Amino acid sequence: MTTLLKEKVLEENRRVHALENQLYLSRHPEQTNFFQNYIAEKNLDKICCDLDANAKVLDLGCGTGYLFLRFLRRGFDVTGLDLSSEMIQVLKDSVSESEKNRAHLAVGDVEEFLERNQKEFNLVVFSAVLHHLFDYEMVLKKACKGLKAGTKIMIFFEPLKQSVASSISYALHRGLSWLDEKSYRLEMRVRNIPLLEDEYHHSDYQRQFGGIDPRGIEKVLKEENCSILNTEKYCARRFGINAWLANRILRTQNTFNILAVRN
Ligand SMILES: C[S@@+](CC[C@H](N)C(=O)[O-])C[C@H]1O[C@@H](n2cnc3c(N)ncnc32)[C@H](O)[C@@H]1O
Repeated sequence: MTTLLKEKVLEENRRVHALENQLYLSRHPEQTNFFQNYIAEKNLDKICCDLDANAKVLDLGCGTGYLFLRFLRRGFDVTGLDLSSEMIQVLKDSVSESEKNRAHLAVGDVEEFLERNQKEFNLVVFSAVLHHLFDYEMVLKKACKGLKAGTKIMIFFEPLKQSVASSISYALHRGLSWLDEKSYRLEMRVRNIPLLEDEYHHSDYQRQFGGIDPRGIEKVLKEENCSILNTEKYCARRFGINAWLANRILRTQNTFNILAVRN
């Protein structure tokens, strides 16, 4: 039963991301708006200043290269793995001729990939991928076991199991979310970008459980001899202005990032 469900999650991820294809980031402005862009760059600045110029980065579930391309453009040697050959093809097409010698791409399942040795990497990135996995804790454990001391682990843009302080705050949070989604749908219609609303049920597997609790991830990391360097919780929205309002005025949270290091 478990194996069947796990296979189903993998199959659905292949199917949905084949549909996402080159429109993936256009369909997900919550990753590209000014607010999230600021968060991504701030995190990268912090991580990259501790990496040697010749450091090797591994981006698991790299998709169309949201973080992969940023690391590549900062001069690092980057390996990207993704289950979807379509997403990898989009990324391949975005790598310039001069960067090709530092960009290594592979298609496959993260769990199988981690069974091979990854001691060579100095930073392992999981960006918006853990919630797509059937058993993200097991994958994280496998990832940590294969790493040499000093390797950083970046967990980025995962859906947070939410806790909202008061009912007023919750009502405002829901209201802003409604407005954000309505405007998003309108924008997608105007730009003629088809939405995949009914497709994500199995592929975004952990969303069925309300997201991921970062405390569970921190516990796994500590058990695997890693130290937590930073945990950040905030509110992501389709539009940057709504993300700004949610964070600066309502102070709600629905997303988290964790940075850790292998001892
Ligand atoms: C939400 S996208 C995130 C892509 C990219 N990391 C980003 O931040 O934009 C999730 C990606 O994880 C990939 N994925 C899902 N399950 C996977 C698995 N078991 N092994 C490898 N990649 C997987 C999907 O194909 C998809 O490209």
